[in-house]
Amino acid sequence: MNDSVLPDLIDELWERRAELSPADTTARSAVVAAVDAVDAGQARVAYVDPATDEVVVNERAKRAILLAFRVLPMARSQVGDFRYEDRVPLTTRLDGVRVLPGAIARWGSYVAPGTVLMPSFVNIGAYVDEGTMVDTWATVGSAAQIGKNVHLSGGAGIGGVLEPPNAVPVVVEDEAFVGSRCMVVGGARVRRGATLGAGAILTPTTHVIDVETGDELPRGEAPAWSVCVGGTRPRRFPGGEFGLPCLLVLKRLPEGSRHDKATLNAILRDHGVDA
Ligand SMILES: CC(C)(COP(=O)(O)OP(=O)(O)OC[C@H]1O[C@@H](n2cnc3c(N)ncnc32)[C@H](O)[C@@H]1OP(=O)(O)O)[C@@H](O)C(=O)NCCC(=O)NCCS
Repeated sequence: MNDSVLPDLIDELWERRAELSPADTTARSAVVAAVDAVDAGQARVAYVDPATDEVVVNERAKRAILLAFRVLPMARSQVGDFRYEDRVPLTTRLDGVRVLPGAIARWGSYVAPGTVLMPSFVNIGAYVDEGTMVDTWATVGSAAQIGKNVHLSGGAGIGGVLEPPNAVPVVVEDEAFVGSRCMVVGGARVRRGATLGAGAILTPTTHVIDVETGDELPRGEAPAWSVCVGGTRPRRFPGGEFGLPCLLVLKRLPEGSRHDKATLNAILRDHGVDA
């Protein structure tokens, strides 16, 4: 990963973003080159620093993407009877990716070889690493970072974050399994090898509770190599006691192993079956 491919000029352009328009050809070519580096996977909006385990956000990459909406003109396109009008085209870098009709990956997203895109949506700034399955109607929001061999099940919603500055995108780490219709949003983190049961909701403030010990774990994170489901925790309000959503850690898995019900991904791949 070489973030130096994004020129300093992006920061200067950001300072005077209110003045920019598609007529500024110098700004436009700098922004296009920067977003194209993100599209090619040469730069990314965020990543987990292996030394600190912290999510590092590359503000310049985010700025380049936001600037693209200022300096790219609206353009019409058409596929059969479908007509579109937008500033951002689709990505053309899909070598080695299995892409089904109805899958949409915007320019400025990086989709690694060996991934499968069922009819799904991958937004600008997102990074989807090798061997990952983006199943039907799953959405990978802007700037979301998805690791290797992840399964995003049908209808899973991975939220996007570009603004405000310093906002941390969603990170789903390698080998994670995100069940059908889960919602993982706004800087939440699914750690390596975690399984999220169908319909679980994870936001940065979601309480995470280990059902074996009753311990409150760091909020907004599905722990590595755990099986989690959405639950509720009681909370007292002036009007009475109500249940608020939380994430329950049901069990821990040996590191490197997948939950039985989460082996679906491999089975589908091995047999070439479409989910
Ligand atoms: C989370 C999951 C992996 C748990 O599987 P498991 O470890 O075998 O656990 P069980 O199914 O035996 O469930 C354990 C308990 O959690 C509950 N539970 C299971 N899944 C749940 C969910 N998604 N939300 C809330 N509670 C759930 C069960 O009701 C059960 O409670 P019980 O013991 O009182 O009956 C599984 O239920 C699941 O959601 N898998 C994802 C399915 C999916 O999205 N597939 C995608 C296909 S594209």
